[in-house]
Amino acid sequence: MASVNDWLGLNGARVLVAGAGGIGSACIEEFMAAGANVLAVDRDQARLAALGEGVVTEQVDLTSTAGCEDAVAAARERLGGLDVLVHSVGINRRTPILDTEDEDWSRILEINLTSAFKLGRAAGRVMVQAGFGRQIYCSSVSSILAHPDHGPYAASKGGINQLVRVMAREWASSGVTVNAIAPGYVDTELTKAHLDQPGVRRHYTSMVPAGRLGTVHDLTGPVVYLASRQAAFVTGHVLYVDGGRTLV
Ligand SMILES: NC(=O)c1ccc[n+]([C@@H]2O[C@H](COP(=O)([O-])OP(=O)(O)OC[C@H]3O[C@@H](n4cnc5c(N)ncnc54)[C@H](O)[C@@H]3O)[C@@H](O)[C@H]2O)c1
Repeated sequence: MASVNDWLGLNGARVLVAGAGGIGSACIEEFMAAGANVLAVDRDQARLAALGEGVVTEQVDLTSTAGCEDAVAAARERLGGLDVLVHSVGINRRTPILDTEDEDWSRILEINLTSAFKLGRAAGRVMVQAGFGRQIYCSSVSSILAHPDHGPYAASKGGINQLVRVMAREWASSGVTVNAIAPGYVDTELTKAHLDQPGVRRHYTSMVPAGRLGTVHDLTGPVVYLASRQAAFVTGHVLYVDGGRTLV
């Protein structure tokens, strides 16, 4: 009987994971378990140092074009090529629109959306030329729900959904698929301080039909599936991994 790793077809795959935070590092573990070779990039050296053995790392700030191009060049150099890109970089700052400063708008859009465009474009050039590739982005339920105090974040995630669709269409004939996962609230550094405020975790949990918030492990299966050979004909999708949050 074929093993799960044969089924996934990721043994020896060359995977670039951008963002070694809560979701990114859980995905890295899963890719390593599937036999892939992983390069992790993040601007935070401490996050990279905390990754398990065997993961190749490079400290990169993805806010610049050069940083994004360096990340892809490092994958080619250190892994020998690039088959899979996972973009798991993001920040948020919760403020009402009327109190949102220009700098917060620009910084959130730059890190969440512009880095996806620049990194996706650099990776896309390599993948289209190779005639194969998988790109997976982290969107959010905020891409379609109007959470208050989420103006720039929601705009960046709505932008991810459309960027994914256009890249998917442009590269489909070159064997490159592009998809996103859209999580609901998951406990990571990004959300912890907010969720830890009195009553907040209970309030969000009450809006999830599954009756709980997500964990990073709820996301790794969908990401690995989208990267796998089983998802060869799946492109341009935003997969909501949210326990039904967007149904209500
Ligand atoms: N945690 C959630 O509830 C949740 C829900 C929906 C979507 N998401 C999305 O999932 C993705 C990952 O989020 P997470 O929860 O793992 O957050 P996280 O804060 O744990 O990880 C984000 C990582 O991005 C890195 N990063 C930030 N700016 C960078 C830059 N300029 N260059 C390089 N690296 C940079 C950070 O150092 C960090 O390691 C994000 O896109 C986030 O918006 C998270």
